[in-house]
Amino acid sequence: MLKLFKRKNKDIFDRLDTNNLPKHIGIIMDGNGRWAKKRGLPRSAGHRMGAKVLEQITRDAGHLGIKFLTVYAFSTENWVRPKDEVDALMKLMTEYLDDYRRLIGDDDIRIRIIGSKEGLSEEILQKIDVVENATKDNRAITLNIALNYGGRDEIVQSVRKIGHMIKSGDIDPDLIDEKLISENLYTNYMPDPDFIIRPSGEMRLSNFLIWQSAYSEFWYSDINWPDFTRNDLIRSIVDFQKRNRRFGGV
Ligand code: IPE
Ligand code: IPE
Ligand code: MG
Repeated sequence: MLKLFKRKNKDIFDRLDTNNLPKHIGIIMDGNGRWAKKRGLPRSAGHRMGAKVLEQITRDAGHLGIKFLTVYAFSTENWVRPKDEVDALMKLMTEYLDDYRRLIGDDDIRIRIIGSKEGLSEEILQKIDVVENATKDNRAITLNIALNYGGRDEIVQSVRKIGHMIKSGDIDPDLIDEKLISENLYTNYMPDPDFIIRPSGEMRLSNFLIWQSAYSEFWYSDINWPDFTRNDLIRSIVDFQKRNRRFGGV
C-alpha cells in the first residue's frame, strides 16, 4: 500500500522523512461553509464534502504511519449555529457512524469520539458505542473525532472528576499535578498532538485541544477543508520536519 502511495506522490514524498513523523496530528476541519458559498451551494454541501475529505486523509495518514489523528468536527460553541445547519451536521455524523465500515475499508483504523455527551441524541450515543467497540482492536491509526468538543469544557470535567476523587478520600489535593489533569482529559490514551493543522486561513485554536497543544507546532493554510488533499498533508508534514522544537531549552 505504501509503495503505491509513494509512487503516486513521488515528488513530495522524496522530501518526507518517514523516521520523523508527527506522532499525533490534530486537524481543525474549517472552511466548509466558505467552500460551499464559493460554489453557490448550501453550507451542508460543504460539510458533506468535508466528510469525504476526512475519509481520504485518515487513510493517507494511516498509510504514512501517523498513529493518532484528531479532527475537530463540532465544537461546544457550534450549537449556536442555525438549527437547520446543526441538524444537517448531526445527520451527517449519524451517516458517518453508520458507514464506518466503508470508511475503514481494508485499513486498520480505530475510531474514537471525544467530547461531551451532553446534548447529543440517544441515537448518536448508541452509534458511537457500536463504532468504538467494533474498531477497538484496530491498531494502525486511531482517528479521534472531536464531536461536541470544547477544550475548556474538557478541563472543567477533568477538574470535576478530580474533585470527586478528593471528596471520596481517594487522593490528597496536594497530589494534583499536570499528569493527573492530563489523565482525566478525553485524550488520556494518547500523546499530546505534536502538530496541528488549520485550513481556511483562520489563525486560532477555537477551543481545540487547548491543554494538549501547549507545545504543538501549527500549520495554517488558505485552503478550505473540502479542498485539502494528500499533497497538502504531506507538504505540511515536510514543513513540520523543518521546525526546531525547543520546549523551553536552547
Ligand atoms: C467547519 O466549517 C465545520 C464546522 C465548524 C462544523 P465551517 O462550517 O466553520 O465553515 P466556514 O468557516 O463557515 O467556512
Ligand atoms: C472550529 O471552527 C470548529 C470546527 C472546525 C469543528 P469554527 O468555524 O467553529 O471556528 P470559529 O468560529 O471560526 O473560531
Ligand atoms: Mg468555520
